[in-house]
Amino acid sequence: MSRLAVTIGGVRLKNPVIAASGEHLIDDAGILSAIRAGAGAVVMKSANESAPAQRQLLQAEYAALDHRWNRLDWSGDTAADATLLTRSGLSPLGFDDWLAQAVRMDLEARKHDCLLVGSVVMAGIEGAVERARALEAAGIRVFEFNIGTPYASQAAKGAVSTELSPERVADLVGRITAAVDIPVWVKLSGQSERVSDLVAAALGAGAQSAVIAGRALGLVPDLDTMEPVLGTSCGIGGYWNLPLTCHWLAMTRARLGAGPALIGINGATDGHDVARMMLAGASAVGLSSAVMLRGWGVLSEAVATLDAYLAQKGLSAADLVGRAADSRRNFADMPVLDQVWRNHIPAPLARLD
Ligand SMILES: Cc1cc2nc3c(=O)[nH]c(=O)nc-3n(C[C@H](O)[C@H](O)[C@H](O)COP(=O)(O)O)c2cc1C
Repeated sequence: MSRLAVTIGGVRLKNPVIAASGEHLIDDAGILSAIRAGAGAVVMKSANESAPAQRQLLQAEYAALDHRWNRLDWSGDTAADATLLTRSGLSPLGFDDWLAQAVRMDLEARKHDCLLVGSVVMAGIEGAVERARALEAAGIRVFEFNIGTPYASQAAKGAVSTELSPERVADLVGRITAAVDIPVWVKLSGQSERVSDLVAAALGAGAQSAVIAGRALGLVPDLDTMEPVLGTSCGIGGYWNLPLTCHWLAMTRARLGAGPALIGINGATDGHDVARMMLAGASAVGLSSAVMLRGWGVLSEAVATLDAYLAQKGLSAADLVGRAADSRRNFADMPVLDQVWRNHIPAPLARLD
């Protein structure tokens, strides 16, 4: 077996690099590009039954920002440390076309030993159950159930969901897992101080994996117009989110143990970041913004970089999972030092006599 192979629940991935959902995975050409770039799994652009959610795609806007919040060109080689500010919508395809696309793309994915994942962002639970059942009947091997978009408070009522209560997560996930036998991956919000509780609820209700954690909302004032960039609060993400994702992966592993397979998302930009999220407890890692900003090569390079890192360490991908998380300590466990804080303050302007 290749050193890159991992398993999520009972599902084997040829490598842990997941092409995570986004606009670049709306068209067949995009999905095929991600498959051919060598991703272990590709998550199709999410769909649901809500007309306002589809219309939101036509109102969608995107900005890449530098570290001083100035707009960058969206040029295909945008800096890897760009922040991505977006107001996205859902797949424009109607139910039948969406399902037909899933079947078409799954055939292609299988030829490349790639896992094609169908995805719904929940509008209503009945619509999500209907689509999960349809995907299963069509032979799709995994269903991703996103109940953690950043946008529910900003979008039309009922278009998308940001579920923050463990009880509700358990109820919704239970409705899906009761309806289908294929593995269900639940994508959860990061806009919570209870991410681990949300994961526990999803897994307790039968999910095979939790994808943590969805992007946050942010607002960036423009100094010239004195209005918000893109006019609204938006989903916001970037490389800087990686430590937050790693924290939640480690906390969740500490809470639930090494058994459940977690998927890391939000802030990975390359293969070294994939390794970082795996060390924090992820069995696989999604990349979305980096691919939107810099192209399909991000996926193939992530696989190659991870492979080189594993070769250098003499480890397999599965060996990485949770190593940093398991050596994480609490503040009180750390040694007492010799006033290290003095090395981290500016020199005083005057002495106290
Ligand atoms: C423009 C855009 C569209 C997205 N659309 C979806 C979507 O349809 N379904 C979904 O589950 N996640 C969607 N996401 C979220 C990404 O899959 C991913 O969770 C998030 O961007 C954080 O990962 P990243 O730092 O690799 O981008 C979208 C993200 C962006 C930026």
